[in-house]
Amino acid sequence: MADSSAPSPRATSNRSTTPQSSGFSDYISTGWAERVDAEVVPREQAAFAAARRERLSQLHQGQRLIIPAGSAKVRSNDTDYPFRAHSTFAHVTGWGSDVVAGSVLVMEPTADGHDATLYFRPAAGRDTSEFYANPDVGEFWTGPRPSLANVATDLGVATLPLAEFDAVLDRVDATTLIVRDADRDVTDQVDGRRLLAADSEALEHDGDDELSRDLSELRLVKDSYEVTEMRAAVDATQMGFNDVVSDLPNIIEHSRGERLVEGTFNRRARAEGNTVGYDTIAASGPHACVLHWTRNDGPVKPGDLILIDAGIELDSYYTADITRTLPISGTFTEVQRRVYDAVLEAADAAFAIVRPGIKFRDIHAEAMRVIAEKTAEWGLLPVSAEESLEADKQFHRRYMVHGTSHHLGIDVHDCAAARRDMYLDGILEPGMVFTIEPGLYFQPDDITVPEEYRGIGVRIEDDILVTEDGAENLSVNIPRTADAVEAWIARS
Ligand code: GLY
Ligand code: MN
Ligand code: MN
Repeated sequence: MADSSAPSPRATSNRSTTPQSSGFSDYISTGWAERVDAEVVPREQAAFAAARRERLSQLHQGQRLIIPAGSAKVRSNDTDYPFRAHSTFAHVTGWGSDVVAGSVLVMEPTADGHDATLYFRPAAGRDTSEFYANPDVGEFWTGPRPSLANVATDLGVATLPLAEFDAVLDRVDATTLIVRDADRDVTDQVDGRRLLAADSEALEHDGDDELSRDLSELRLVKDSYEVTEMRAAVDATQMGFNDVVSDLPNIIEHSRGERLVEGTFNRRARAEGNTVGYDTIAASGPHACVLHWTRNDGPVKPGDLILIDAGIELDSYYTADITRTLPISGTFTEVQRRVYDAVLEAADAAFAIVRPGIKFRDIHAEAMRVIAEKTAEWGLLPVSAEESLEADKQFHRRYMVHGTSHHLGIDVHDCAAARRDMYLDGILEPGMVFTIEPGLYFQPDDITVPEEYRGIGVRIEDDILVTEDGAENLSVNIPRTADAVEAWIARS
């Protein structure tokens, strides 16, 4: 029987009845039709991933770069959460939902750049016990894996078996950098080798942090493939929102209607994409005042609003991030509409200033100007809007404690390791994609506001692309104005 590089199966001895005899293993390893590799052509994103690797290479000349995909995380005992590769790995390989868990991209320095090699566990032979007896990675259990040759063509990158990654570890020295949070085991092994190389400074991992920073900053401006994916993610998400609006009668009927909102949206996410880009927020009534309400176990009652913050992640991992706030009965009350219109005005004012050359943080400032003016106009602030906007006051922020925008892409909160100068204090460039998502949240027990406002939470979130001379709201076709939202519900 041939050796397998697969990990040993986890503790399943109390459940496993697979025969251990040589008679059985000899028998099951024969009688299979010859496996013929399917024809593959390079996937569209392969060329874009190559260009990203080239830019990364220029930033890290002479350094060995290790970018693991990571492995599935345990949910309980021997069951895992669905595997999702680390975003940096997906970005520089172009591999998405079909990535083989445990893969590692290595960029080996050369005289004038880097050679990239993808190490992964290829299909195991039928003469290995892994084939039929390993519930974690065996073909009988989790399906076939692609061959090395197939992936090399598909992604346009050299491939080697994961078992040969040990040779890379043997070469690890002070010039080796790793994306630390992708795969704990690989990081520990690299740290160990760097320590052996008598490079105690390497364990402070400043270089690793610079690698993560650069990988984050490479994603600030999207290429044309990414922009196409973002549009598609928004379109899929629009279908999910339409499903929820159509399902409102059933949702209202159920005692945990918020769960039905989640289920209806997530059904569409699994049908059209990989999954949801983050846990769906289905926040009805006062739950809308909890910014990341994902428990979703409440009822959806006519007369209340429901805030739905949801986004579909495609197989390429690009995700939308969209919020709509709906009147469950189909029409806004007067006070609900007043709050809704204020938030919409803040969103529209922020969108109106977006163009190349402005600062990212100016978008937030513009939204906050409107939020301060509206809350002052309603008599909610102890000072004027102008005074509240002063840096040491900011009283209006009591009703919107979160930021207005974040970059969006392969992570819902994309480019998180970018330097402040490039992100919050950065200058907008064509190709950037981010959210505009102002809100107003009046907690049910907030005695600074009249009773009629308490328990109302409204957020309107759109996904914005910076163009050559302005901006495009990618999610503009999902109804946004109070009238359009009411018409949407009436139509459904
Ligand atoms: N869905 C989380 C956010 O809007 O940032
Ligand atoms: Mn967001
Ligand atoms: Mn959101």
